[in-house]
Amino acid sequence: MIPVFRSLSEWMVFRSQLVVGHSLGFVPTMGGLHEGHSSLVRRSLAENELTAVSIFLNRTQFNNASDYETYPANFEQDLALLEDLGVDVVFAPDFEAMYPDTYLFKVSESQDSLSMEGVQRPGHFDGVLTVVLKLLNLSGAQRAYFGEKDYQQLRLVKGMVEAFFLPIEIVACETARADDGLALSSRNRRLSEAGRKKAAVFPRILTTASTPEEATGELREAGFEVEYVVDEGGRRFGAVNLEGVRLIDNWTLSVLKKLKGSLR
Ligand code: PAF
Repeated sequence: MIPVFRSLSEWMVFRSQLVVGHSLGFVPTMGGLHEGHSSLVRRSLAENELTAVSIFLNRTQFNNASDYETYPANFEQDLALLEDLGVDVVFAPDFEAMYPDTYLFKVSESQDSLSMEGVQRPGHFDGVLTVVLKLLNLSGAQRAYFGEKDYQQLRLVKGMVEAFFLPIEIVACETARADDGLALSSRNRRLSEAGRKKAAVFPRILTTASTPEEATGELREAGFEVEYVVDEGGRRFGAVNLEGVRLIDNWTLSVLKKLKGSLR
């Protein structure tokens, strides 16, 4: 059975027993694991002697109570998957362990966090950065693995690590996609069968429209509620709602050019 540490004291004992010079890779998650998480774990297993995964559904990053309550978590299933992958240890603290200060202290960023996801989800990035700082500090890992699907999150985490001189390397991993192009996400499980089929139209429009305005118009016509489509820093970012499920995605603009060329 894979060891699961739920208290900080158990976790600290594990950390103190790590052999000096052995590398530890860390994959923070909120559970509801899918192939996207598995790809982060596999990368960590390949690059480190040991791999730890955290499962902590961090309620401070949810600005919407129903999104938090319906988050598709399944702890036993997650553990079985991590065991199959060969993960060495799981850290699964509760809210009291992670927030002894009851969230009186938080990390805020005052530029990048104020656009896109930061506008649609007020307070989201404070919750993300605060919990990631706590997790990275506790992990004692040399490397931590984040997916590019949450690109704004990845950029902010990298910025925080630099700003606070955290002794850890943030490894960016390519977005894992289903065969029809939809970015994998725990929330996809909440779509109906028909909704799941239709969701594949989102990456298709995002990658073929010439401008964000064109993409927005086509997505609305296709029945998506569009939160934003923005070209920024060489990437196209989008967020939409379908059947009350939030989908986000991003692509580099150079990839979009190539994709368009091949579609002509
Ligand atoms: O990307 C996620 O799953 C979460 O935002 C993270 C990084 C685990 C923090 O709760």
